[in-house]
Amino acid sequence: MNELQQITTENEGRFKQKFARTASYTAFAPGRINLIGEHTDYNGGLAIPSAINRWVLVSGAKRWDTTVRVYSHNFQELLEFDLFTDYQPLSTWQKYVYGMIKLLDDFAPLQCGFEAYLWGNVPVGAGVSSSAALEVALGNFVRALFHLNLSDIELVKVCQQTDHQYLGVKSGMLDQYASQFSRAGKVMILDCQRLSHQYIPADFGQYTWVLVDSQVKRELANSKYTERVQETRWGLEALQAQFPEIQGFRDIRVEYLPFIQDKMIQNRIKHYVSENIRVDDFSQAIESQDFNLAGKILTASHQSLRDDYEVSCPEIDFLVEQALAQNYVLGSRLMGGGFGGCTINLLENETIAQFGELISKKYQAQFGVQPLVTVYNLVDGAGVY
Ligand code: GLA
Repeated sequence: MNELQQITTENEGRFKQKFARTASYTAFAPGRINLIGEHTDYNGGLAIPSAINRWVLVSGAKRWDTTVRVYSHNFQELLEFDLFTDYQPLSTWQKYVYGMIKLLDDFAPLQCGFEAYLWGNVPVGAGVSSSAALEVALGNFVRALFHLNLSDIELVKVCQQTDHQYLGVKSGMLDQYASQFSRAGKVMILDCQRLSHQYIPADFGQYTWVLVDSQVKRELANSKYTERVQETRWGLEALQAQFPEIQGFRDIRVEYLPFIQDKMIQNRIKHYVSENIRVDDFSQAIESQDFNLAGKILTASHQSLRDDYEVSCPEIDFLVEQALAQNYVLGSRLMGGGFGGCTINLLENETIAQFGELISKKYQAQFGVQPLVTVYNLVDGAGVY
């Protein structure tokens, strides 16, 4: 039995214990990493994500009335509401669950309620998208349970709308897309404008991706995220007022940058344009197995996120600097939304243990906190048992 089958069996057992009946379906959805292409997705840019071997699971069955009861193992809380009565979810996990169910119900009215048991081992606040995994798992579960005629991409869009409408975060769909569409042993080049992707083998020769979780969870992150979304929109509008040929973000080329008067806004757009170029360069570098170059591009991405996009923080910058001071580390950068979370590092296979020890010691000495160093496997996207 593999890891996923084992946790599925366990979760079905928990459902049975809690609700005294057998689950009809278990849906699973993984967290994700992102090799490069950060803060581009909500403006139709490029990224290279893949799913990791950490999942959110939803096991459950229909009810005969219109009550929905969802129990979260991790939060030890029950969410209960009636499909026909307005409800105000209080905690964050409940907002995700309630938002998904309401939006799916809008898409295709559900004939009855259900009960479900939620469990997950995707680290929360670590930059690997536990909330997207929750949305995608729930979406797959409800789709299977009610045989909804909803394509994978429509499902991903419902997840994104949950972020927008129920959490007030105008996020892109990088996380949910990766959680739904990833393939084991592959990374994908994701184009958020076309909503298309292309798989490439995750063949990194003698190198490995190592994540270092700073353990910094910034409450402010959401409001700063929304600020960046707004600032880039202003940048686009400023250019469109001068250059009618610019239809959208992807039409902005480096030559246009000086025409944005406000230096801060100019820097935001500079990050977007340069990050898309880095995604292209990076994919060519790994295709030609030039990992030294790939590492340099990663580090350039960090500099851009730190200086032009201003989404880093001292803890993350410290982790990147310490990593880059080691000659066996080819590249290092902030991964995910920023203001905390984790770094992603490319380094030689046989140096993983040495790296983990060193970075932990240095970080502990500087900030008094133990970082979490993890190597993930790249797995298939969401599914249903
Ligand atoms: C968060 C968001 C994603 C994406 C990244 C930054 O993870 O949920 O949509 O914008 O930040 O690349």
